[in-house]
Amino acid sequence: METNKIYCMDCLEGLKQLPDESVDLVLTDPPYNISKLNDNRDKSKLNSPIMRRESPLIYDFGDWDNKTREEFLEFTQLWLSECCRVLKDGGTIISFFNKEDISFLGWTSKEFGIRTRTILSWHKTNPVPSFRKVNYLSACEFLWVGSKGDKSWTFNFKQQKEMHNFFETPNKSYYGETKHPTEKPLSLIKELIEIHSNPQDIVLDPFMGSGTTAVACKQLNRKFIGFEISKEYCDIANKRLAQKTIFEL
Ligand SMILES: C[S@@+](CC[C@H](N)C(=O)[O-])C[C@H]1O[C@@H](n2cnc3c(N)ncnc32)[C@H](O)[C@@H]1O
Repeated sequence: METNKIYCMDCLEGLKQLPDESVDLVLTDPPYNISKLNDNRDKSKLNSPIMRRESPLIYDFGDWDNKTREEFLEFTQLWLSECCRVLKDGGTIISFFNKEDISFLGWTSKEFGIRTRTILSWHKTNPVPSFRKVNYLSACEFLWVGSKGDKSWTFNFKQQKEMHNFFETPNKSYYGETKHPTEKPLSLIKELIEIHSNPQDIVLDPFMGSGTTAVACKQLNRKFIGFEISKEYCDIANKRLAQKTIFEL
């Protein structure tokens, strides 16, 4: 498969076409399956005060985020095992994931030769306000970081103060560049790519969405391979990629 392309296809099909040990970094943001939280919900009652009190937020990102729990875990295991297979020895795998299931990535990938290195926290400085004031604001997301094999991994350490396992930046999906509901901040993705890869390395993102990983690779002189199942999101990502960046002007 050619690099620097986003393939508009199911990643489970696309990943099979990649050779073993052919990518340096997997950086991805898969479905969290949190739309399923609405499963038992009678949406016709959404305007009733009772329904509002019980569940004030609707998360419905689309069919791609709406599997049964069994389907979701099986799907996660399938893409994760393929990503581990195509990762080079010494390569890094990083995935955003929902806070309830993030340990699933660590213990599932262990059998594919992956060692969990850390969990990163991303503090979103613009969380949805709490109107009921009965719990903390949902202001953090988490990323699991692992590396393959026993040899040392690519880790471009910056200054001590920049290497805390914590990032702070606003959530782009409220006002991002695109209409994708879960667009991630370009600055955060770029920082991870700089730390975990070198120029000309190959970065794989099987769930490209609006193409944030691809844009970051283009700006940082890394090669990328991406998959995205939705034609609409592929079009958004390719349009973003075609735009000239300030580095090219
Ligand atoms: C959480 S979003 C990624 C958002 C991305 N990080 C961004 O900044 O725009 C997950 C994406 O995975 C895509 N997706 C879901 N199932 C897929 C599959 N089997 N193969 C490829 N893409 C898939 C969805 O269409 C969605 O755009």
